[in-house]
Amino acid sequence: MVSQARKTTVVILGASGDLTQRKLGPALFHLMNSGSLPDLCSFVGVSRSKFSDEAFRSTLRESVDAVSDSDWAGFAERASYFQGSSTNALSLKLLDQQISEACGDDFADDRVYYLALKPSLYPDTLLALAESGSLNESLGSRRVVIEKPFGTDFESARKLNELAHSMMNEDQIYRIDHYLGKDTVQNILVFRFANAIFEPLWNRNYIDHVQISVLEDLGVENRGTYYDDSGVLRDMMQNHLMQLLALIAMEPPASSTADALRDEKAKVLSAVRRVDDDYATANSVRAQYDGYVSETGVDPDSSTATYGAVKLFVDTWRWQDVPFVLRSGKALSRKSSEISIEFKRPPQSIFGVSGDVMPNRLTISIQPDEGVHLQFVNKTPGAGTELAAETLEFHFPVGVIRDAYERLLLDAILGDATHFNRSDEIEYSWRIIDPFINAWLDGGTPKMLGYEPGSFGPMEAEGLLGEGREWI
Ligand SMILES: NC(=O)c1ccc[n+]([C@@H]2O[C@H](COP(=O)([O-])OP(=O)(O)OC[C@H]3O[C@@H](n4cnc5c(N)ncnc54)[C@H](OP(=O)(O)O)[C@@H]3O)[C@@H](O)[C@H]2O)c1
Repeated sequence: MVSQARKTTVVILGASGDLTQRKLGPALFHLMNSGSLPDLCSFVGVSRSKFSDEAFRSTLRESVDAVSDSDWAGFAERASYFQGSSTNALSLKLLDQQISEACGDDFADDRVYYLALKPSLYPDTLLALAESGSLNESLGSRRVVIEKPFGTDFESARKLNELAHSMMNEDQIYRIDHYLGKDTVQNILVFRFANAIFEPLWNRNYIDHVQISVLEDLGVENRGTYYDDSGVLRDMMQNHLMQLLALIAMEPPASSTADALRDEKAKVLSAVRRVDDDYATANSVRAQYDGYVSETGVDPDSSTATYGAVKLFVDTWRWQDVPFVLRSGKALSRKSSEISIEFKRPPQSIFGVSGDVMPNRLTISIQPDEGVHLQFVNKTPGAGTELAAETLEFHFPVGVIRDAYERLLLDAILGDATHFNRSDEIEYSWRIIDPFINAWLDGGTPKMLGYEPGSFGPMEAEGLLGEGREWI
């Protein structure tokens, strides 16, 4: 019988990689140091490279800022390294036995396996985990965190889901999209469903259109090889931007359980209008920044888009005919992720021509200026009636926002799947994006545009919004 007292082991497969060094190691350290983790929680890094436990801990420490020796020692004693391949069942069996022995018989042996690996290794790694018995839940829970990208299109995502479901229940599978771990993204739910004043306006009667932008100032940096295979649609649009769209457009869930929330997100993603190649060609813009093909790891003849914009519609009573225009790109003038909800202008302007009245605009800033802005129109003090747009603003205090990986790792350890993607959400998102991927491949339509690094991206993207509208 499983004991009530529990030990948790987080096994990071791909421990010598960039994600572990930059994100997972620091996140685990901060969680432990802030007392957020269960007491009996330890970590094992796994990859093929040779490291002693001490050498592995030293590499982790390099990416944690200003840590005292005593704080570090508390973390280091819980971290160890296991040299082995994630695709080798014998190796994983040995690891499984080591963890079981360290756990002993007096505790339930809970595990989180985090796949911080190249996505092409996911299928063989899942097979090896199953074959080695590592997913067997008789002695404790077994959860598997799978990094993005989950598949490269609908069909590959469906197959990967099928494989995962053949060895695990859906509630053991944690498909991560780190955007869902951001406070500002989780705040979309609170903002929408803990305030009654916006809900009556949150529909096609009052909203003119919605813009979702995830813009980066950096180019591909040292991830040229990965990015060149992926491009903006797979790297950003299918995951982060689709999730933001779902959170903005979903109906209120009946409760805050993981499934109630994910039911509503899946429902709205399933209602995004399916488009054909012709629509995708006419309603998307793709571009590549000048100099991209000279980046390390990038094919000199590459036709991978580093910028993309697409126009989508959600076929529901709430959103019929409201354009959702999404854009994302690299090497742009600034780093910024935000959602802008533009309300309709007053039907009649008694202060002059209607065009003079700025529309109300609600902007939810995900990063770097985390907060909410509401634009409204005011009278300029003085004689006559001059109108000016003003903004009510809320900014999260600097320093209170935790890294998204910290939050999501803790959720996975505690077994809360609310902010992870369910299989149906992933598949619906690919179904939305696949026609754009195909159109962009097929004969190279729409035309690949260029843009200067550090610019706003191609001007043509403005045309997607429709007359009288502009990007914020
Ligand atoms: N880096 C990021 O910022 C970031 C952000 C979002 C998502 N992701 C996702 O996270 C995953 C990992 O990305 P990454 O940037 O960390 O990749 P990475 O730097 O290439 O690291 C992958 C690691 O996997 C290890 N590995 C390869 N084959 C293995 C095997 N058979 N068994 C065990 N370990 C093996 C490699 O170490 P050895 O050669 O020593 O085995 C390598 O250190 C990818 O799916 C990526 O899309 C990364």
